Amino acid sequence: MNHEDVGRYWNGNADAWTKLSREGYDVYRDHLNTPAFLAMLPDVAGLAGLDIGCGEGHNTRLLARRGARVTAVDIAVRFIAHARRMEMEEPLGIDYRVASAVALPFGEGTFDFVTGFMSFMDVPETDRVLAEAFRVLRPGGFLQFSITHPCFDTPHRRNLRDANRITYALEVGDYFRNLEGEVTEWLFGAAPAQAREGLAKFKTPRFTRTLSQWLNLLVKTGFQLEQVGEPRPTDDTVRAYPDMQDAQVVAYFLHIRVRKPPRANVT
Ligand SMILES: C[S@@+](CC[C@H](N)C(=O)[O-])C[C@H]1O[C@@H](n2cnc3c(N)ncnc32)[C@H](O)[C@@H]1O
Repeated sequence: MNHEDVGRYWNGNADAWTKLSREGYDVYRDHLNTPAFLAMLPDVAGLAGLDIGCGEGHNTRLLARRGARVTAVDIAVRFIAHARRMEMEEPLGIDYRVASAVALPFGEGTFDFVTGFMSFMDVPETDRVLAEAFRVLRPGGFLQFSITHPCFDTPHRRNLRDANRITYALEVGDYFRNLEGEVTEWLFGAAPAQAREGLAKFKTPRFTRTLSQWLNLLVKTGFQLEQVGEPRPTDDTVRAYPDMQDAQVVAYFLHIRVRKPPRANVT
């Protein structure tokens, strides 16, 4: 399975994903993952940024609201249509384009920063998405991206719960087996039956890489590691969204910020 095959799956997910996430059912994104990502993000006001795998644009809009001049790409035409419609309703100056992360339609050194919110692990050509992010960054620019945590989103995973349905551990396995497009069917767990009515499940191809594969690829691409985050929900968040209690047991998400080295001084 290559990036274009994956794009067709995501295009098929786009309408239901947009509906449910805009209704507030992507609770791990809204109440854990994105707030932690933004807390780790350097000041982007006045900077030119590229958001790769923007989906319907929720997180892209948050970048624009922080004062960045944002361009955003997604391989799925229908996600970009939803994002553009929102841009027409509430203009933030975001330039949305249909493009694949592995062949970005921008020249070398175009952007001050690049983001990828939960999209890089969906691209089978992991080395190419990192190489493209590196290429379009100016020297000294940064890339920050989030992925499902390689150590806990393993091919085998099972929540172990006590008698009160409280997760006390995660059983993980098959860590070293790289999934290469196994399709999982699911919907946001927080969405009640009436919100799901008439919607087909998302079909998402999975590509797993070990932690060392990710880190070594980043280093091989030429990036310098700058900051790493493993968000954990607060007790208050879990009281408000009890299903998120399992994310206090292990880290579901991994956030990484890396920098393209500044150009070496030429003497
Ligand atoms: C889990 S969704 C995340 C969407 C959005 N960033 C968010 O946080 O709400 C993954 C996104 O990556 C996009 N995607 C997958 N493969 C891609 C590729 N090769 N190039 C660009 N986007 C891609 C999908 O279409 C989808 O919108």
